[in-house]
Amino acid sequence: MTLPLAPDHVRIFDTTLRDGEQSPGATLTSAEKLDVARGLSRLGVDVIEAGFPAASPDDLEAVRTIARTVGCEPVAGRPAPAPPIVCALARAAEADIDAAASAVAPARHGRIHTFLATSPIHREHKLRMSRAEVVERARRMVGYARARCEDVEFSPEDAGRTEPEFLYEVLSAVIAEGATTLNIPDTVGYTLPQEYGALLEGIVRHVRGVADGKAIVSVHCHDDLGLAVANTLAGVRAGARQVEVTVNGIGERAGNTSLEEVVMALRVRRAVFGLETSIDTTQLCRTSKLVSTRTGIVVQPNKAIVGANAFAHESGIHQDGMLKHEETYEIMRPETVGAGRTQLVLGKHSGRAAFGARLAELGIPLTGGALAEAFERFKALAEKKKTILDADLLALFADRGAEEEVRWTLEDLVVTSGLHGMPTATVRLRDSAGEPHVHAAVGTGPVDAVFSAVDHIVAAPAELVDFAINAVTEGEDAVGEASVRVRARAADGRPDPQRNAVRTPTFHGHAADVDVIVASTRAYVAALNRLLVALDLERERGGRVPELVREAI
Ligand code: KIV
Ligand code: ZN
Repeated sequence: MTLPLAPDHVRIFDTTLRDGEQSPGATLTSAEKLDVARGLSRLGVDVIEAGFPAASPDDLEAVRTIARTVGCEPVAGRPAPAPPIVCALARAAEADIDAAASAVAPARHGRIHTFLATSPIHREHKLRMSRAEVVERARRMVGYARARCEDVEFSPEDAGRTEPEFLYEVLSAVIAEGATTLNIPDTVGYTLPQEYGALLEGIVRHVRGVADGKAIVSVHCHDDLGLAVANTLAGVRAGARQVEVTVNGIGERAGNTSLEEVVMALRVRRAVFGLETSIDTTQLCRTSKLVSTRTGIVVQPNKAIVGANAFAHESGIHQDGMLKHEETYEIMRPETVGAGRTQLVLGKHSGRAAFGARLAELGIPLTGGALAEAFERFKALAEKKKTILDADLLALFADRGAEEEVRWTLEDLVVTSGLHGMPTATVRLRDSAGEPHVHAAVGTGPVDAVFSAVDHIVAAPAELVDFAINAVTEGEDAVGEASVRVRARAADGRPDPQRNAVRTPTFHGHAADVDVIVASTRAYVAALNRLLVALDLERERGGRVPELVREAI
């Protein structure tokens, strides 16, 4: 049971690791999921929806690890926040609910979130069930979940296109069976704010048990019409006290409601809403960075709150106004969301302890060999770059927390390129047995030459899907960040059609360096490492990698 709530508290239910991970290409390893979950816990979310355990044994294990770990560890630099509830998703079926129950069992506070579609189109074409059958299944499965876990949430999938009276009937039935959170998904992002608000008002008014505090109402919106945040806020105005959101708004298709936008709207317009969240807003940019690094989904520069330009004032009139008074063109201070641009953190005279402590504060707690190796890289960077900011450290080391199996390591790289002549790269990689491998290749440009040399050595059945470089900070000595995505290709060189039919798994690599060619090479090798580990796992299990093959939810 998670009731009661202070009347002015809006619970933040983060589904980055579940709905967010359903973004095309966002597949995360278990270690990465744990890292993101730790970041969410630092941020102060109330609920972490950690995954969908019935999807695969790996998903189940990832949720279990998060349940066992997150909220049970000290957080560097500040008092431990209240541990988040760890939630697992389940279809309204016994096997799914059993998997979810077993995954959240080690949590201090676990939750099962079960769902069943209710709209006419889903009832008729997907479920082939009558209204009565839907009510009966929802009722039975919530009871089944409640017998295994104290805290049960129910979602009528596609509620946005469901007849309101039928919704009231289903929701009243599941409250009677012990559901304490009723989540109302606008699954396909179809509703308009006034419609969604009216739907929520109707639920608050008509569903038995809501008015007398037996269950709280939750909002869950998708951004197909760009209205997810507006709909979410309309739901809150109508009485919802839980919002389901993802960091950077990532998620299925056009994405989910963005956590940072809703949290800051509630904060900046507190006079309108009169509501509070438990989010430490100074962690918003860091968490955004962590999620984009891990998922490989780059945040657009003009993204509200966490985009690179969110606090940049370009026009002369705006700059003049800002100099006279910040509030002329700024509705919140950048520091409030952790976007201070001038945090000088460390220099070349800093010691390892100070470096380690700063990384831990940034949510990258490294020890032993990992810390020593990171410190060496930091020193090398400090020789080349005068001022090292938090943003540099996050870009360089954000992927260090996760322990991953490494097949190939970049040892050395020499590149020649110019206006005339052929760009040439010589690459030395070390394999997992410690053997060095060297190859030289030419290419259409320096990156192409490096990737060709790496391909020759690694010989992975991979094709490049995406490649991007961004500057992390300003100035000519800026750190460059590379993001690479690869996918497996069939033996004949074409993308595997069987995989494409379900969901093409892609593998992401990220790296940062003052030298963008080095960053690109590291990112490419990291992506290939992941692909190779996944393919071996697939071979071992005699089939496709379950973690990567999701049934559409
Ligand atoms: O959008 C949706 O309907 C969902 C449910 C599973 C809650 O994500
Ligand atoms: Zn959803």
